[in-house]
Amino acid sequence: MKPSVRHFLDIWRLDAASLRGILDDAHARKAARRGWGQAVVDKDAPATGRTLAMIFEKNSTRTRFSFDAAIRQLGGASIIANAADMQLGRGEPIEDTARVLSRMVDAVMIRANRHEDVERFAQAASIPVINALTDRSHPCQILADLQTLEEHRGPVAGKTIAWVGDGNNVCASLIHAASRFGFRLTIGCPPQYHPDLVDLARAADQGADIEMTADPRAAVEGADCVITDTWVSMGDTDHDARLKAFEPFQVDEALMALAAKHALFLHCLPAHRGEEVTDGVIDGPQSKVFDEAENRIHAQKAVLAWCLAGN
Ligand code: CP
Ligand code: NVA
Repeated sequence: MKPSVRHFLDIWRLDAASLRGILDDAHARKAARRGWGQAVVDKDAPATGRTLAMIFEKNSTRTRFSFDAAIRQLGGASIIANAADMQLGRGEPIEDTARVLSRMVDAVMIRANRHEDVERFAQAASIPVINALTDRSHPCQILADLQTLEEHRGPVAGKTIAWVGDGNNVCASLIHAASRFGFRLTIGCPPQYHPDLVDLARAADQGADIEMTADPRAAVEGADCVITDTWVSMGDTDHDARLKAFEPFQVDEALMALAAKHALFLHCLPAHRGEEVTDGVIDGPQSKVFDEAENRIHAQKAVLAWCLAGN
């Protein structure tokens, strides 16, 4: 990987100061354009003359629209393709695709089935590569989540965030963020669906304060924010076993009542109402899921601006 290129592959790869700078920029960009039309370009237009390529191997609503809106608001342009429509889908090597696109665009955003494919793409590319979800992580989502928590409740450092449910890709990025942003993380999950042990070990090495329990009530007790996600992620095949194992992990009104009174509820969406969360919670006063979805634009603008500033 060329060290001078600013990839955004995982939160744990960036230092705390760079990440804080990105989140501060996300807050500032959102504040600066309050009341503006969606297509109005930010005053500094840092992506003027730049193109972002967006490649999707999996379905997406928020990521697709928010990255497209983001690059336009920065003054740039976008090209979107489903991987299945590219030669990538017929077996062209990832490295060759990366080298070709490096001659045609200024940054690439990829949503991929396999995390290692995004890493291989970044190894071969001479332009920034952004991870827009893999089987192992979803870093852009967690930046938007932290932005949402901060805009409603102030600095995330020192707060307690509770993750309830599957120890999946979104949970992994939250684990990666814990030490970098200085929050305490409690994870309530069934033992067989625990987070990746390499992620937990690295987080511990990086000084993260993370506790894991099989009791969802213990996980949320006194938390400033409760986060959950679907029990069946894209690519998961054990649908019935999952639904059964996660049943006690539904975020309902009774579980939310154990968190701090001021606690927020977040969910990256899409939600499966009646499974991981009740209508009462996701539509209730503590839920900020639509601010969270909007913040995908603002957080990713800050990521794009940071990536492009390095090239
Ligand atoms: N939260 C999220 O990444 O949503 P999409 O799958 O719709 O992009
Ligand atoms: N964990 C979910 C997140 C979707 C945005 C998935 O990977 O399907």
